[in-house]
Amino acid sequence: MNSGAATSGFAKEFVKYMERPEEQIRRDYQTFIQDQHVYHEILQEVVKRCPRPVVDMLEIGSGSGCSTTLISTWPTTRVVASDILMEALACTRRTMALCHGRADKISYLRANGTRLPHRDGSFDVIYHQGLLEHFRETAPFMRELKRVLRPGGSLVINVPQTYSWYTVKKWLEMRRGTWGPGWETQFSSGDFVALAKRHGLELVQLKGQTYDSKWNELAKGYRKLFRPWLPNALDQLFTKRWGRVVDRHGHRFLLELIGVFKKS
Ligand SMILES: C[S@@+](CC[C@H](N)C(=O)[O-])C[C@H]1O[C@@H](n2cnc3c(N)ncnc32)[C@H](O)[C@@H]1O
Repeated sequence: MNSGAATSGFAKEFVKYMERPEEQIRRDYQTFIQDQHVYHEILQEVVKRCPRPVVDMLEIGSGSGCSTTLISTWPTTRVVASDILMEALACTRRTMALCHGRADKISYLRANGTRLPHRDGSFDVIYHQGLLEHFRETAPFMRELKRVLRPGGSLVINVPQTYSWYTVKKWLEMRRGTWGPGWETQFSSGDFVALAKRHGLELVQLKGQTYDSKWNELAKGYRKLFRPWLPNALDQLFTKRWGRVVDRHGHRFLLELIGVFKKS
């Protein structure tokens, strides 16, 4: 199937996912929700700002279904969970059933994100995480999302951020042919500005999320080497200041880049 994005690596992952015990699916769901809390907070804000009593949402590449399960529990949402793979939709359904998703607010759709069956302007919010980086040519996909988005609607995209150790590791593994999904790219905040311009969308928010492994090592070093002898007040000051740096500039150095694009 020529989807525009590599899918064979995902299919194997989803088959393994279905074999996991129920308890593990519940634990993995909680871990995902913690790791993706900035992404979900942004989505929640977008939903709250939407003036419609029922907010029509579309997830492309719902995969494990964790985001959609959480979003189905918010009061005003109605979600279409879509994926190109049947295996992924089976996982979405399983997570919904095991992790208290609101089944009455979800519908499922097997579709390629570059050719959606919906009419123009069908959705208030479209979101995807871990998908755009798998397209060698993003334009047909972005054009299709813009088509099905309502005027005034928001597109929320979460991808790997370029300036991180993950990019180097991925590039080395791709050269060796050992990278799971086969091929994958990454985006900087400048790339998001260019993407918005190319598709006539307004980029209204940029945020970073999640530390990559090298930052975690630095944090461990700080905790081991400095924290034991730093006065508490100074440690708290550092932590608070660092929190502000991450909030303002995290999109330039954290592992994931999240952008909110608006259609006028
Ligand atoms: C990294 S996974 C995303 C994971 C998802 N956010 C989650 O929480 O599990 C990418 C997903 O996009 C799907 N996908 C890949 N190409 C696609 C396409 N052209 N249209 C729709 N879905 C696609 C894959 O099947 C996979 O489920």
